[in-house]
Amino acid sequence: MHRKKIILSVLILACAFFFSSCRDYDIEVLQKVLKDHQMTGAKYVGSQTCAMCHEKEVKNFKLAAHERVAIPMEGVKVEGCEMCHGPGSLHAENGGGKGNKIINPKKNPEMCFACHMEKKAEFSLPHHHPVLEGHMSCTDCHDPHGANARPWSATSMEDTNEKCFKCHKQQRGPFAFEHLALREGCTSCHKVHGAINDKMLVARDWSLCLRCHGEQNFPNVGGSNHATRMAQGTCWSGECHVAVHGSNFDKHLRY
Ligand code: HEC
Ligand code: HEC
Ligand code: HEC
Ligand code: HEC
Ligand code: HEC
Ligand code: HEC
Ligand code: HEC
Repeated sequence: MHRKKIILSVLILACAFFFSSCRDYDIEVLQKVLKDHQMTGAKYVGSQTCAMCHEKEVKNFKLAAHERVAIPMEGVKVEGCEMCHGPGSLHAENGGGKGNKIINPKKNPEMCFACHMEKKAEFSLPHHHPVLEGHMSCTDCHDPHGANARPWSATSMEDTNEKCFKCHKQQRGPFAFEHLALREGCTSCHKVHGAINDKMLVARDWSLCLRCHGEQNFPNVGGSNHATRMAQGTCWSGECHVAVHGSNFDKHLRY
């Protein structure tokens, strides 16, 4: 019993160390973002102040992943609504309103990058969703106030793709011959922030497909010998499986 307790506390300590050393936010970047938005002079007032006028957001936020985040900065803890919207005292004192002394990260994702620096690098890769260009925003895929900041929920895989279908209707189907890979989510083949590969693919060659289709008797795939076909190019080029998202005509997804 005693021993178990020791092992447990060592584990907890190790976890605490692991999480504190791998957090990726940068306090200096955060301060610079606030300054760039001319929020100097504004003070942190806490989410309860926001609740007076924004009941809905405050209520939803109770279950959000960001609710658990608190970042210590010079004398205050940046948390709650103000971690993304900046200190809100001036906005609140002025009676609030659009464009009134408050950051709206929809128009500029710099606030998100202050804590998610590596995401800026991902969106700078050769093939990416045009977020840095201002054509879309993080919130097209992420709900900043809801329980799931991620574009899917633990209970339903359907949600993952639903966000994508808003803009990519062709991939929705329904298809007479669906590719079951899509049920595992678009992200099983696409890195949607950005990638070095064309079409934001996870891999540029047949290894993309062999992650799931690498049967034991390779180069037999799907019961037929693919040795010579592989030499001709990727699995989805030419006369091969071009209907990779699903087909209404061919069960092998060739057209
Ligand atoms: C993780 C970052 C984040 C947190 C935390 C956050 N917000 Fe937001 N908020 C955003 C983003 C991003 C938008 C822009 C959403 C959009 O319009 O697509 C936004 C938009 C808003 C808007 C404008 C909505 C509209 O329809 O124009 C209000 C009001 C708001 N947030 C209030 C709050 C309140 C109150 C809290 C605390 C309970 C909060 N936010 C916490 C990121 C955040
Ligand atoms: C006295 C009431 C009041 C308080 C307090 C208040 N707001 Fe607002 N806020 C408003 C109003 C009104 C709007 C305009 C809403 C609209 O047009 O839908 C607004 C708009 C916003 C927007 C959108 C701004 C834009 O330019 O798109 C954000 C973000 C926001 N508030 C965040 C907050 C946060 C965070 C707090 C707490 C620190 C807060 N508000 C406190 C009244 C208030
Ligand atoms: C002040 C720092 C901070 C800011 C600003 C911030 N985040 Fe986060 N975010 C975090 C931390 C820390 C976590 C990890 C929370 C956890 O796992 O409990 C996180 C988690 C996330 C997750 C994963 C949630 C999950 O369920 O695993 C997403 C998605 C996300 N943030 C998107 C955003 C977006 C979009 C913005 C801007 C609108 C933003 N964040 C702004 C600190 C921040
Ligand atoms: C085109 C949709 C889309 C856009 C736009 C988008 N994301 Fe994501 N994001 C996703 C998906 C899908 C995942 C899950 C990735 C996975 O599991 O492979 C994710 C995961 C995340 C995560 C948590 C997991 C991780 O990879 O660390 C964070 C944090 C995050 N996104 C932040 C952002 C920020 C910040 C922005 C805006 C600058 C943004 N995202 C814009 C779709 C998007
Ligand atoms: C708000 C609209 C929107 C949402 C939501 C969205 N996308 Fe996109 N997507 C775009 C735009 C815009 C482009 C860039 C098209 C271009 O450059 O021609 C794009 C490009 C792509 C491309 C590359 C296409 C090409 O021809 O290179 C892929 C793959 C993709 N998106 C997958 C996804 C996935 C997966 C999701 C869900 C996680 C998603 N998208 C969510 C708007 C969106
Ligand atoms: C099994 C892997 C796989 C999955 C899962 C997948 N895609 Fe793709 N996707 C591809 C490949 C391969 C291409 C490149 C096709 C080409 O170049 O002809 C592509 C291309 C695209 C394109 C560019 C337009 C086109 O058809 O060439 C978009 C948009 C896209 N995918 C969206 C999605 C969405 C949305 C989902 C989830 C519903 C998804 N993809 C799931 C493999 C996949
Ligand atoms: C995330 C896993 C996954 C990935 C990645 C994946 N598939 Fe599939 N695929 C499946 C599953 C599951 C089935 C249905 C079961 C089966 O037939 O093996 C399937 C079925 C197929 C079929 C129909 C089966 C037949 O008899 O012809 C084809 C064709 C196919 N996949 C091609 C591809 C191609 C091409 C790629 C790469 C672009 C790919 N798959 C990537 C999971 C995947």
